[in-house]
Amino acid sequence: MKKESILPLFCIIPAAGIGSRMQAEVPKQYLEIEGRTILSHTLATFLASTYVEEVVVALSKEDPYFSLDEYGAKEREKLILAEGGDTRADSVFNSLEAIRQHLFEQHGEQEGERHLAEAWVMVHDAARPGLTTEELDAFITSVWRDSSKAGAIMALPAQDTIKKVAGKRIETTLDREKIWLAQTPQMVRFNDLYNGTKVALSAGANVTDEASILEYNGIFPDVYPGKPHNFKVTYPGDLELMQLIMANRHRS
Ligand code: CTP
Ligand code: MG
Repeated sequence: MKKESILPLFCIIPAAGIGSRMQAEVPKQYLEIEGRTILSHTLATFLASTYVEEVVVALSKEDPYFSLDEYGAKEREKLILAEGGDTRADSVFNSLEAIRQHLFEQHGEQEGERHLAEAWVMVHDAARPGLTTEELDAFITSVWRDSSKAGAIMALPAQDTIKKVAGKRIETTLDREKIWLAQTPQMVRFNDLYNGTKVALSAGANVTDEASILEYNGIFPDVYPGKPHNFKVTYPGDLELMQLIMANRHRS
């Protein structure tokens, strides 16, 4: 590894959504798989990575489900709680502010800013519990080693033929070679995301992931091949599939 491997890397897990498409009794990140909540599976993956300095989890203001007791003392040392916002981008932005606050308290403002100028941040949906720490670490080291300065996002190259549709009528077929389906984690420079989010949010831009915030600001990260099991649990059928994958993993 290059010297860059010691650069500060923060991780943000937005977990303040309500999971409306799942139509469950609780927000989907609190549904259980193999005896643990989806959120705790996801957090465990990131807390176990030796490259990650702190993990911020954004929780809804009235969240009655999250409990720090589920985590060991060592894990709790790495965890920072932030308040979620109205959209995913707001939740991530509040988490970026929490990281800044944390650093300013630790090092003072000037030294904190110096730290942030070098820092990377990685954002990963709470609702993607399928990623393993090995896969995460391979991604992180690859971003440091091989990616453009802007960073990279996990994504899946399109396998099917892709149709552009108006209503239900096909308009055209897109060049599949150029289509990738965005996942998380998305790993970028801390200040690119922090400054870029301010610009995008104040302009009311339609930004649904970190890469689209950077794109809006003229910064273009790379794609990195993700895994099919890193899908986002969105609908009830996704929960069943994730349950099968996790149960199979624990058996083997
Ligand atoms: N999220 C968040 N704050 C919000 C909205 C979403 O932190 N205001 C988080 C979710 O908890 C989730 C991730 O962003 O981990 C991806 O969002 P999505 O899959 O859309 O989750 P929900 O918004 O909860 O689901 P739905 O869109 O079906 O309501
Ligand atoms: Mg949503």
